[in-house]
Amino acid sequence: MPTRRWFPTLIYDAPLLPRADGAFVRALLEDCGKIRAHDKAGARWCKQNYPAGYTSYGSMTNLHRTFSTFIDLEKQIRRHVMRFARRLDMDLGQGRLAMTDCWVNMMSRHAVHALHLHPLSVISGTYYVSTPPGSSRIRFEDPRLDKFMGAPPKRTGARDENRQQVAYDVEAGKVILFESWLRHEVAAQRGAGQRVSISFNYDWR
Ligand code: NI
Repeated sequence: MPTRRWFPTLIYDAPLLPRADGAFVRALLEDCGKIRAHDKAGARWCKQNYPAGYTSYGSMTNLHRTFSTFIDLEKQIRRHVMRFARRLDMDLGQGRLAMTDCWVNMMSRHAVHALHLHPLSVISGTYYVSTPPGSSRIRFEDPRLDKFMGAPPKRTGARDENRQQVAYDVEAGKVILFESWLRHEVAAQRGAGQRVSISFNYDWR
């Protein structure tokens, strides 16, 4: 077939570390719990905006400058962000990609993360700390969805590049990266366990 693929949407998905580091994960999880316990403003924000869950998105987004565990985490994530930027052929010139925000999300049963994107950023992503059975997937949507107008729907079993949405299973220890304009959501958390993740933004400065 004389066609080529242009304008693809890339999503990066890899283990954060070559080998799992149980002590590091336990320390992170412990800090996530401490943050939640002390974040009264965040608790108020979540009551309004994040039922059945906790996120520090509305109250504490500088965790990568505050906690040594998160400082270490940023160093690891950075390697992946740079790799992703190279894969995207980004020309950073004299600038660099820097983490601007980093926050924790803890989703209990029924917690939902509605469709959104991350304005003012270049690369965003999530690191999964704990993903008990029933942890909901992260779903991405074709960024051109609002431009399809009268186009017919895609066939069942359409080729990967022709799909209009894709969902990734989440797995503790993995990092998922995407360009910040890409809309995504997390459906309602199922199961009894708590899904814990750390999300972040990088900008170019
Ligand atoms: Ni997001």
